[in-house]
Amino acid sequence: MPIITFANSKGGAGKTTAVLLLATELCRRGYRVDVLDADPQQWFSRWHDVSGGKVRNMTVVSYVTESSLADRIADSKARADYTIIDLPGVRSPLLARALGHSDHVLIPVQGCAMDAQGGAHVLEMLKFLADKAKIRIPHSVVLTRVNPLVTTRALMAVRQLLASRNVHVLDTPIIERAAFRDIFDIGGTLQDLDPVRVSNLDKAQENARAFAHEVLARVWGRVTDELAAADIERRTSEAAA
Ligand SMILES: Nc1ncnc2c1ncn2[C@@H]1O[C@H](COP(=O)(O)OP(=O)(O)OP(=O)(O)O)[C@@H](O)[C@H]1O
Ligand SMILES: [Mg+2]
Repeated sequence: MPIITFANSKGGAGKTTAVLLLATELCRRGYRVDVLDADPQQWFSRWHDVSGGKVRNMTVVSYVTESSLADRIADSKARADYTIIDLPGVRSPLLARALGHSDHVLIPVQGCAMDAQGGAHVLEMLKFLADKAKIRIPHSVVLTRVNPLVTTRALMAVRQLLASRNVHVLDTPIIERAAFRDIFDIGGTLQDLDPVRVSNLDKAQENARAFAHEVLARVWGRVTDELAAADIERRTSEAAA
């Protein structure tokens, strides 16, 4: 089943946050999800620990290194519907290796020039793999930490730059939301947070749903009937709740 890797060689682009949103949303939909935490800082594993080490349908594999990656992926393929890899925000041989194993690479990019550089490095590596090794790995940029109220000049510049280079950018950006920060401190999923304490929780949940939906559509090439049916069922049951 698909291996989805989040990569940006600059730190703080929003990789781990995006991994968490996708992983928890897929688990909520009933898929078995493995997250391979290949960041020595272990931010994802720490969230999992804060969550009591138990999130329904999720297995977190910590301390994945360049030398153990292939084995951990093989283990994961045998049990999970989706394998998601969280990488550190640095240039490393691990990055190239993880890209090579991936069915889809997501490149979180903040709407600022520095961050776009880390994204550009990953895009260059993907191009190198395609040109030299004839390995074409589908990939998309996801814009992160986007201000919910204004479309900034910097963000528009990043979108234009990527479009001019024929890089696919997800329609759904990840918005800057308190819920996406709080969840790392509180643990659990967006569904477990208290809407009284966390502002705009409903909007954060909807953002995570739309993001996961678009990722699945990209990974599978289209919105399958199964996906559409699952979404209709979910919306109906939520409306009834
Ligand atoms: N959409 C968002 N809304 C609010 N805060 C966010 C959002 N995305 C990221 N952050 C915050 O920005 C910081 C960096 O995000 P994150 O850890 O996801 O980035 P990263 O790319 O995984 O970083 P690293 O390269 O260090 O692993 C964190 O404090 C996180 O809580
Ligand atoms: Mg991270």
